[in-house]
Amino acid sequence: MCGIVGFAGKRNAKDILLQGLQRLEYRGYDSAGIAIQNGEQTTVIKASGRLQSLMEKAKHEIQGTLGIGHTRWATHGKPTEENAHPHQSADGSVTLVHNGIIENERELRAFLMQNGFSFSSETDTEAAANLLAYHYQKTGSPLKALTEALHMIHGSYALVILFKGCPDVIFTAKKESPLIIGMGAEETFIASDVPAILPYTRRIYDMESGEIAEVGRGSVHFYDKNGDHIEKTPTEITWNIDSAEKDGFDHFMMKEIHEQPKAVRNTLYAYLKNGNIDFSKANLTESTLKSIQKLHIIGCGSAYHVGMTAGYVIEDIARIPVRVEYASEFRYRHPVFGEHELAVMISQSGETADSLSALREAKAHGVPTLAIVNVVGSSIAREADHVLYTHAGPEIAVATTKAYSAQLAVCYLLAVALGHAKGAFCDAKYQVFLDEIQKLPEKIEQILEKKDSLRVLSAHLASLETLFLIGRGVDFSTALEGALKIKEISYIHAEAYAAGELKHGTISLIEKETPVLGVLTQKNLFPKTLSNMREVKSRGAYLIGIATEGFDVENTVDEVFYIPETLRPFAPSLSVIPLQLLGYYIGTMRGLDVDKPRNLAKSVTVE
Ligand code: M6R
Repeated sequence: MCGIVGFAGKRNAKDILLQGLQRLEYRGYDSAGIAIQNGEQTTVIKASGRLQSLMEKAKHEIQGTLGIGHTRWATHGKPTEENAHPHQSADGSVTLVHNGIIENERELRAFLMQNGFSFSSETDTEAAANLLAYHYQKTGSPLKALTEALHMIHGSYALVILFKGCPDVIFTAKKESPLIIGMGAEETFIASDVPAILPYTRRIYDMESGEIAEVGRGSVHFYDKNGDHIEKTPTEITWNIDSAEKDGFDHFMMKEIHEQPKAVRNTLYAYLKNGNIDFSKANLTESTLKSIQKLHIIGCGSAYHVGMTAGYVIEDIARIPVRVEYASEFRYRHPVFGEHELAVMISQSGETADSLSALREAKAHGVPTLAIVNVVGSSIAREADHVLYTHAGPEIAVATTKAYSAQLAVCYLLAVALGHAKGAFCDAKYQVFLDEIQKLPEKIEQILEKKDSLRVLSAHLASLETLFLIGRGVDFSTALEGALKIKEISYIHAEAYAAGELKHGTISLIEKETPVLGVLTQKNLFPKTLSNMREVKSRGAYLIGIATEGFDVENTVDEVFYIPETLRPFAPSLSVIPLQLLGYYIGTMRGLDVDKPRNLAKSVTVE
């Protein structure tokens, strides 16, 4: 995830900025840069790749005691030096760094180009720099330029800005993306995350959405979005560096579980324009979608489970045949392809060896390829014909959570876009689907609020050695993902089955107190799954239900966790959350390192 630092004081800014960026390295990044103000001179240095490259380029003496810095995790445009922050406006009057996503970037670019501004990067950030310069030229006041520009920007941002002619101040503005200001003696620090400034100060102001700050050397003034002065009170940070890196959570996995609403929201923002799905960034037009006769969805591990859910949903609502496969199987299966087919690779890292080989296999057969990938510029993203990026930010815990949720979000949009292009449903239904998809982040938040109720259940399961999970349709793919999560981080043998399959063999493993967890989110299917659960209950099983609110399951199961109602195809985004939490709680209760489970790597680059 992108990181921001800023400094205004009396010490050399370069050293403080580079040290701050080093402390944000753990968050992941693919390029970095700094800008240092010395009187009227602004020195900008940027480098792609590791921070070490930036340090090499900046190793000469740079005068200046005020500056800004950034580590970038590519979202708009490749991880190149041109796309790295800080960005400058075409007239050189504004230099800034930005975290977040500017949704109306294209409209702003068009407006600014009509007004004589040119662009040299592929980023949405450059639109903000030029827009601020446009208003700065008109008003001559940084504060007025900010209030005018922010009214025109849609999306999320933490902006940290240097204005020409104002050598002693840094301006900041925030909407949704985190931004803090730390106070020292005659010096002030700015950061997206606490670890960057913790060695210097523990007295911080947490900026709220809609606020602007004018930061001087040891001073700060706050304004609302209209430029009116506001008062704020600083707080003391009590975290140590380790918990600060995890935003106060004990593990990256729990932090990332909590980042899921944001990951889904950012991913949806990226592809919803004026109430419609817009895949133009991936060069996927409505006529291309309309022509597709069959999809092959390919992935490994959790990405395969997303693909399996996508397969159910696309066949259900878009009525297009889908074959879903493990990448490791696909590449050696000698697959048969027909006309107008699309191969879809799903991968968080974009570097998984099996998925990359599967992509090459599809391409070798002349089949167009679409990658759903989290890491911009990764091998799969580079080689695929079309790319739909997930906007989950870097995922550090080995067990995927937020990337999984972001992948699901893209797959729902793909299913709805395909169905719409094919005329599988009417315009009204299209809107109903899109409205409901946009409610998912809030519903995930509601589930996270009641996470503590899963602890007691986890304590019971943590002492056992086996667990069965069952479901039908998309509930089966969620059960598979839940079993993988529990296995990989708690080392309990968890096995998922299509609910109807238990009676074909597995039921002989059921004995007194064997836990069986049913995923019950599909109105048309849950009575069937429930009756399979009764079959095992009569053989002594201990039943747990993850069920949609309003489903009558309490008379059958021993424990139930309810998730909010949603439209049938989108329930996997909600039902997976309690399963991730169960895996996390069971793993930590068993004293395991849930962020780095044994024998596993975050990115599996070997066959
Ligand atoms: O980076 P990818 O999405 O291609 O990785 C695929 C799998 O290796 C990955 O999902 C793995 O199963 C995770 N450990 C699951 O949490």
